[in-house]
Amino acid sequence: MLKGRKILLVIGGGIAAYKCLDLMRRLQDQGAQVVPVLTRAGAEFVTPLSVSALAGQKVHQDLFDLDAESEIGHIQLSRAADIIVVAPATADLMAKMANGLANDLASTLLMATDKPVLIAPSMNVRMWHHPATQRNVATLKSDGIHTVGPDEGSMACGEFGLGRMAEPADIIDAIKTVLNNGPLKGKHIVITSGPTHEPIDPVRYIANRSSGKQGAAIASALLARGAAVTFITGPTHEPLPDGAAIVQVETALEMLNAVEAAGPCNVAIFAAAVADWRVKDAVDSKIKKTGKGDLPEFDLVENPDILKSVAQRTENRPELVIGFAAETDNVLENATAKRLRKGCDWILANDVSPETGIMGGDKNKVLLISDTGVDAWPEMSKSEVANRLANKIVEALGDSNS
Ligand code: C5P
Repeated sequence: MLKGRKILLVIGGGIAAYKCLDLMRRLQDQGAQVVPVLTRAGAEFVTPLSVSALAGQKVHQDLFDLDAESEIGHIQLSRAADIIVVAPATADLMAKMANGLANDLASTLLMATDKPVLIAPSMNVRMWHHPATQRNVATLKSDGIHTVGPDEGSMACGEFGLGRMAEPADIIDAIKTVLNNGPLKGKHIVITSGPTHEPIDPVRYIANRSSGKQGAAIASALLARGAAVTFITGPTHEPLPDGAAIVQVETALEMLNAVEAAGPCNVAIFAAAVADWRVKDAVDSKIKKTGKGDLPEFDLVENPDILKSVAQRTENRPELVIGFAAETDNVLENATAKRLRKGCDWILANDVSPETGIMGGDKNKVLLISDTGVDAWPEMSKSEVANRLANKIVEALGDSNS
């Protein structure tokens, strides 16, 4: 569920700063992008070079860095992230946060942000128990700041007790919990994804070129906004979205059954490239070549239209039913007609002619067609399409709830 998420990591000045190198690595392994900010004291414990090398990008250190101000600016830096994580959060940094001081890049970002903030305190046991620190923790909690740790244990200073920074794995769990409390919390979303395989005999099947990338990216974007996702996928090589209820199917009929079995949902998204036809009488043993030039014959029958069956439900119809239209000609015209024919609310239409490289590629260029008209999105990565769609879903459900 961290795939595609942007995490602004503020590394404070404590001995536990070294654990942030491991934390960054693990976050990236899970698909997150880490934008590092190193405080002046933090740079006494880990070098800017090791931080930027591991993050794979510039480490931000100065409030008055004119380059950064013209490129991005500290306000934007604080808003572009999905979450700000402060680790280690020192007694000094927490005191600044609790009292609204903004005299360096880290403290200014933390005041300017409109995103959730998670702190991982780390300090000597006496400093942790000091009434000033405890007052600051209480203030920060009542300001809506999330905390993880500190843990109990032996410390670098030789003392024992509460004050060790939480372990990277626990910080990652806490990040997921915070992100999960997103705007789609409590919403169930069913997604179909990938191709279907329709057997001819036990070794051959009819398939298509769908990679399942767009469906998986949509699942991740919705999970990251707190939705409970049922992800029903045909056979793909795409990693399965972490945190979704996964149902792996092969055929269109199995996909239909899985959609029915997933139960009522708030939103249903049909990103799968379902085979239109299946072989009427697939056989149980391999069809043999006779060597005499006679060819096997088989009849095709139409598969059920899963999207249509859900969009036209008379009971338990989802509030929002979203389909895809992969077209090679007259994209807008065909997709507009398809939306009406199937009865779905939105259609994301794209041109899958081979020269676009969309089928199986990393980029997508879609038209969002709804009853209010057509919105042409510029070409962007499939994960950006997913994020944009997820934001539109948040907006749409917000409207329907108000
Ligand atoms: O009719 P067409 O295949 O172009 O429609 C595409 C949309 O309908 C996609 O959202 C796809 O997931 C869905 N679909 C379906 N069941 C089918 C065929 C298409 O759910 N049998």
